[in-house]
Amino acid sequence: MCGIIGYVGHDDALPILRKGLSNLEYRGYDSAGIALGGDRLNVYKKKGELSALEAVLPESSTATTGIGHTRWSTHGEPTDANAHPHTDESGDVAVVHNGIIENYDALRAELESRGHEFTSDTDTEVVPHLVEEELASDRDLVDVVSSVVDRLEGNYALGVVVAGRDGIVATRSGNPLVLGVADHGTFLASDVPAFVEHTRQVSYPEEGDIIHLTEDGATTYADGKEVSREVQEVDWDPEAAEKGGYEHYMLKEIHEQPTALRQAISGRIDEMKGQVDLELDLPAEYLNSLEEVQFIACGTSYHAGLYAAKLFEEYADVRASAEIASEYEFTGGRDPWRTLVVAVTQSGETADTLSALKRAKRAGARTLAVTNTLGSTVTREVDDTVFIRAGPEIGVAATKTFCSQVATLALVAVHVSRKRGTISSAEAQELLSDLRGLPGAVQQVLDAEGQVRLAAEEHGDGDAFFFIGRRLGAPVALEGALKLKEISYDHAEGFPAGELKHGPLALVTSETPVLAVLTEGAKARETLNNVKEVESRGAPVIGCASDVVDAEKFVDKVFTVPELGELEPLVANVYFQLFSYYVANQKGRSIDKPRNLAKSVTVE
Ligand code: F6R
Repeated sequence: MCGIIGYVGHDDALPILRKGLSNLEYRGYDSAGIALGGDRLNVYKKKGELSALEAVLPESSTATTGIGHTRWSTHGEPTDANAHPHTDESGDVAVVHNGIIENYDALRAELESRGHEFTSDTDTEVVPHLVEEELASDRDLVDVVSSVVDRLEGNYALGVVVAGRDGIVATRSGNPLVLGVADHGTFLASDVPAFVEHTRQVSYPEEGDIIHLTEDGATTYADGKEVSREVQEVDWDPEAAEKGGYEHYMLKEIHEQPTALRQAISGRIDEMKGQVDLELDLPAEYLNSLEEVQFIACGTSYHAGLYAAKLFEEYADVRASAEIASEYEFTGGRDPWRTLVVAVTQSGETADTLSALKRAKRAGARTLAVTNTLGSTVTREVDDTVFIRAGPEIGVAATKTFCSQVATLALVAVHVSRKRGTISSAEAQELLSDLRGLPGAVQQVLDAEGQVRLAAEEHGDGDAFFFIGRRLGAPVALEGALKLKEISYDHAEGFPAGELKHGPLALVTSETPVLAVLTEGAKARETLNNVKEVESRGAPVIGCASDVVDAEKFVDKVFTVPELGELEPLVANVYFQLFSYYVANQKGRSIDKPRNLAKSVTVE
């Protein structure tokens, strides 16, 4: 996830872009850059937070057009060269981009064969070179950008400036873009906070729109014809604006899950062939000799590891387990290299996980990291890394990174299983098609948010909260309880549902709401027996249920989970996130910074 901004108007563009980028920095802070327009472009970019860019920016400028970018790396390390804006060789075309261009490899090879020279490792850099080629035909910039985007596959929001040409041309497909028109000029951005202090009049381009921004406003084209898009007025206080209009980062990040998931799978799935491409150096002969997979992680990431271990056992037909990193001791077989140890850590900096990883390496295991953070310590310690591409997560309670970790680990499971020949291409296609459906299914849950808020109002004063589920529903139950306890400070426990009757049932009263996972992949029918056990003790039950069971007959409230095979429990988890959020919010808790906790735990 990155942030883009553009301004064209009567005022000095530099301070406007600077301030806009600082309001967008929550979207990424690996590097930042600005291109100022005019007869010649001036491009400034720097690795690191915005403060690093500030040090190289001029005091002032005469430019009244410019684009800016703040980066969360997906392709290429955070370096000066990989920072946006990207330019062509002449330096006359500059581009900012949020998203992933999936076919950049092929486009880059083609452009290089025609003599273009590349200076970065990014997918974005193909765009200015393509624009440069199209400009040779002397067409207007809208036509040029339209021809270029016809060649792009993937997700993008783009802003393009060309030396000596009027204004900025922007477009989007699958990534956010908002336009704003103020008295003194016209804006584009990934999100309203970038320019809300200049105008509250905004419009949202539709997929594929191409927009020409000039100092007098924005003209939008769809399929070559001019179209108009509704102008809306936003009504925010500045604090809310920083969070994109949400009261808390956590709620914003819960809502970002469909986008985060699209980014996690983008360019990695070949559904027709039932194959996954993760650019992993795990050859088939190694995977065929694999004896065991161990996921090491803490907290929420441990729950993602539990989910993954079940998928690996089922699909890859290999012994798989998740281990709490601080408890981990290597227990591989006679040839430790045949044990693959997977460190699951969104920050890549968790001391317990890094120290467990060192134990595994010392014992001679092969290692893989699944993380959200490019350049983090874990990536330097392991043999291979897969990034989950969730974008920055600021709320201390992990939400979108959990979802993206499980989705990414499911991709790794398909990759390993196909290489080992333990699943057919038809079975792989089914799981991959569910993965493709995941962002939409999560969106359906988000659309039912009002229902969850009401349930939180009704049940939020319980003495304690129990979360239950079986198989893939069990890690989700643990995760639901962790989320609720860390942000609401209420007592919450997650159990494999069958365990209730072996002890915890003694705690159940009419004041202990029970939340159950009743979906595919979670042995819903068996879990209904446990639901009946708690109901007969008077506990109110909320079931996150798909149509594998007739949940309405058995529970007090049903949150509907769309049909999605083995990923249904992961979708149910989004209800638990929202429930936890609203219970905590009605108690006025410090949701983004819960007491005693920190986002990255770098001590053992
Ligand atoms: C809970 C939470 C923590 C982290 C844990 C591991 O909401 O965020 O339990 O999951 O501290 O952190 P990472 O994934 O950075 O290793």
